[in-house]
Amino acid sequence: MKILGISASLRNRRFAYKNELIEQIKSIQNLNGIKSFVEEQVKITFDEIENLNKDLSFEEKYKQLKKHKGNRGLSNSEASLVYALWQSYRNDVDIDYLSLSNIFENENKNKLNFFKKKFLSSDAILISGPVYFGDRGSLTQRMIEFINSDKQCIRHVKKIFYAGLAVGAKRNGGQETTLIFQMTDFLNMGAKVVGNGHDTTSQYGGTLVAGDIGKVQGDEYGIRTALSTGENLAKSLKDFNQTHNKNKQEDRRSIKKPKICNVFVMQDNEEEECTKVINSFVKNNRNNNVKFNIFKVYKEKVYRCIACDLCPTSYGDKNNYRCIINNKDDFFKLYHQEIINCDSFIFAAYSGENFYNINSNYQQFIERTRYLRRDDYTMGSKLVTSFIVSEVNSNRNLHIRTLTSLIRHKNILSKPLLVFKNNNTYINIDSVKKNFKNFVKDIENIKSQKEENTYVPIGYEISYKGFLNR
Ligand SMILES: Cc1cc2nc3c(=O)[nH]c(=O)nc-3n(C[C@H](O)[C@H](O)[C@H](O)COP(=O)(O)O)c2cc1C
Repeated sequence: MKILGISASLRNRRFAYKNELIEQIKSIQNLNGIKSFVEEQVKITFDEIENLNKDLSFEEKYKQLKKHKGNRGLSNSEASLVYALWQSYRNDVDIDYLSLSNIFENENKNKLNFFKKKFLSSDAILISGPVYFGDRGSLTQRMIEFINSDKQCIRHVKKIFYAGLAVGAKRNGGQETTLIFQMTDFLNMGAKVVGNGHDTTSQYGGTLVAGDIGKVQGDEYGIRTALSTGENLAKSLKDFNQTHNKNKQEDRRSIKKPKICNVFVMQDNEEEECTKVINSFVKNNRNNNVKFNIFKVYKEKVYRCIACDLCPTSYGDKNNYRCIINNKDDFFKLYHQEIINCDSFIFAAYSGENFYNINSNYQQFIERTRYLRRDDYTMGSKLVTSFIVSEVNSNRNLHIRTLTSLIRHKNILSKPLLVFKNNNTYINIDSVKKNFKNFVKDIENIKSQKEENTYVPIGYEISYKGFLNR
C-alpha cells in the first residue's frame, strides 16, 4: 500500500525526479526529529534566497532560485506534506513524493508520463497546496484536469483514497473552502475521501497558516492537523484494504455476517419520491452480504439539539442512549442502538425547488448527531454517502452539505448519489444505478470493528472538565 504525497506549490524546492526526500523522511524516528529536519531545510531555503545577488531583479532572482531546485530545501506546502507523510509512514504505509511544479509548470509528454506512472502506482494521494483566492492553485487544477482527461487515470482514481492539506497566509484564509472544493472533485471522480483524525477534532483535512517561506514551521496547531491527516489516511486505507483481502478468504469459506447499511431519509415530498427511489435501488441490489435498514426520518419526531454542555450526559456504554433530550417519541431516543450499530450510512433527501409539500427533519437530524460525535465518534469510521433526488433547479447542494457534516464524524466519504428530476422524469437514473452498485460493493470491503477514537473537546470548557474526570 502506498500513499503518493503531492506538493502543489510553485515555490517547491524539491525536484519531482530522483530526489531523496522520501529516504530522508523514512529515516527520522520521532517528532522532534521531523521538526528539526523541517527547520534545517527551511534554513537552507532561506540561505539560498539570502545568498542571491541583491541587485538582481525579482524575475532574475526567481530564475536563479529555480536552478537551485533539487535535493534540498522545502516550501511551506512541502514542509506540511513532510509532516503528514512521516506520520503515514509511522502507521505502516509506504510513501512516495511528487512535486507538481516540475510536471505542470511547463508540461511536456515525458513529464506527463512521469506523473501518470507515479499516480497509477499509488493507493492513495495526499495533496498539499497553497490557498489561492480561497481555492486551490492552478497546478492542482491542471492535475485534476489531466486525471480527468486520461482513460487510465480516470479508471485508477476510482480505486484510490484522497486527503488534503491546504496552506494559506492567514487564519480563515480559505483553507477549508479549498479542502471542500478539492474533496468534491475527488468524490465526483470516484475516490474515497477522508479528513484529519480524531486527535485534531476531525475536520476536512490539514489547515496550515504560512505565507512567507518557512513560516509554516511556526504553526503548531496546523502541523498537528497535517500529522493527523497523514495518520487518518494511512489507517483508513489499511482498514479498507485489509478487510478486502480478508473478505476474499472468508468468501471461500462462505460464512459471513452481512454488513449493515442504514439509510436515513431525512427529507421527502408528499409522494415520498426519495424513499421510493432508494427502495427500488435497495431491492435491485439485494445480496447476502449487505443488509439495508431504511428509516423514514421525515415522518418521525426529531427534537432540536439544545446545545447543552453536558454532551453526552455521562460516559459509559455507547449502546446506551445518553443525549439530554428525553422525549419518549424522539427518533434518536427510540432508535439509538439501530442508528449506531452498522457499517455504513446513506443520508438521503428530496431536494425541491421550493418547500411546498416537503416534510423535513434534515437540519434537526444533522445537529442531533452531536452527542454521538462527542461520544468518541460513535458514528465514525463508516463508509458513507449522500443520496439526493433533486429537482434540476433546486441547487441546494444537499449532496455536499451532508458529506461535509459526515466527514466531521470521521467517516470515509464516497461519491454522492445525485438523481436529477426534470418534468417528472429522472434524467440520469442509469448512471446513479451504476454508482449505487459500486457503493454496495465497497460496503463489503469496510472493516466492521470500529477503531478507538477519542473526542477532544475544543471550545466547551465545562464538558472538558467532565471529560478529564471520566
Ligand atoms: C495568487 C495568490 C492568491 C492567494 N490567496 C490566498 C488566500 O485566498 N488566502 C490565504 O490565506 N492566502 C492566500 N495566498 C497566500 C498563500 O496561500 C501562502 O503564501 C502560502 O504559504 C503558499 O504556499 P507555499 O508557501 O507553499 O507556496 C495567496 C497567494 C497568491 C500568490
